[in-house]
Amino acid sequence: MNRPLKVCVFGGDGIGPEVTRAAVRVLRAVCSRESIALDLEEHPFGSQSFRESGVAFPEASRQAASNADAVLCGAVGDPDFDHLPPMERPQRCLLDLRQLLDAWANLRPARMSEGLLDCSPMKAEYVRDLDLLVVRELLGGLYFGKPRERRGESPHQVALDTMVYKEEEIERIVRLGFQLAQGRRKQLCSVDKSNVLECSRLWEAVVARIAPEFPDVQLSHLYVDACATALVTHPAEFDVIVTSNLFGDILSDQSAGILGSLGVLPSASVGGPTALYEPVHGSAPPIAGKNIANPMAAILSAAMLLRHSGGHEDAALAIEQAVDQALAQGLRTADLLPRERRHEAVGTIEFTEAVLAALDVAV
Ligand code: NAD
Ligand code: IPM
Ligand code: MN
Repeated sequence: MNRPLKVCVFGGDGIGPEVTRAAVRVLRAVCSRESIALDLEEHPFGSQSFRESGVAFPEASRQAASNADAVLCGAVGDPDFDHLPPMERPQRCLLDLRQLLDAWANLRPARMSEGLLDCSPMKAEYVRDLDLLVVRELLGGLYFGKPRERRGESPHQVALDTMVYKEEEIERIVRLGFQLAQGRRKQLCSVDKSNVLECSRLWEAVVARIAPEFPDVQLSHLYVDACATALVTHPAEFDVIVTSNLFGDILSDQSAGILGSLGVLPSASVGGPTALYEPVHGSAPPIAGKNIANPMAAILSAAMLLRHSGGHEDAALAIEQAVDQALAQGLRTADLLPRERRHEAVGTIEFTEAVLAALDVAV
């Protein structure tokens, strides 16, 4: 057996721990079936960690993340700390983690599966062939630009965030977008707001400079507002979208909505030697601890982990097919059902066990 795949697990806050628990069960099951050695360690991270020890991202957790092949994270965020400025909230540790791992590229795939078709709020013929990858720049733009501050006294305060992009930061994400498109349907849509923003004008220029290196990829451009509409009117026509940090955050949540719920979209954040895998959704505090959260995004993030960090394509596919099978059996967590059919919903654990059963592993 090869060197074990070292995975650092951060459950985090809210529904984070329960969906991560589900993902870990599936990860362990598929690894045992496929004889993949797994070295898995859990560590504190987030608002709950802050509450318990006064530190959201303890040094031991940092070390564990840096030393792992991959980090599997749930979600962070707790309303008890929402009175604090964003950069002082414990959930800021997520941005620290992305920085620590140099995870500059966030891949958010939105793929329709037959079993999900009736969960989409959109007509089946528009979404049946939906298979979209949002490639989001993750370490630049408005999220990290300085200065960031509040000045003056109410009612005359001024708030300031800075959108800043270096040409190299744009270049590496755009190049990755082209490369990923080459491995798919060879269509890349670059999304910006170059009719208004200087950062987007630079983005557009970099895309134009790099495009000749990828003559086999069909390139298109959309302003982000028009993209928001196009995603709804003809979502299946998109292959790869490459965009900046904030726009990617928003458009990926929208892609999840088109599929039916935030609870279904996984992600991989890559760039450094250790990659980070996490659901696109947040900690969903109102539904935490009730066994109603959808574990799909977390489970599919574990599949991405096996594929991208482990090189285990078969194991990743097995998980994806098992999830499809659970959906095809008609199993749905509450988020995927209209209000009048919520009584049919299965819980987090029941859905996970159906996935495990589909993997043909005793539950
Ligand atoms: P959210 O994603 O937590 O929830 C938005 C809506 O989607 C809610 O109605 C929620 O119940 C539902 N939802 C989300 N995931 C679900 C799941 N797996 N199953 C069923 N329903 C699900 O976003 P929010 O409410 O805007 O934010 C809550 C907290 O999470 C905030 O503190 C926010 O900053 C944080 N957040 C963290 C991450 C992360 O850790 N990666 C991502 C987004 C938001
Ligand atoms: C996400 C989240 C995060 C982001 C927040 C919680 C910092 O919304 O992962 O999409 O905006 O990147
Ligand atoms: Mn988001």
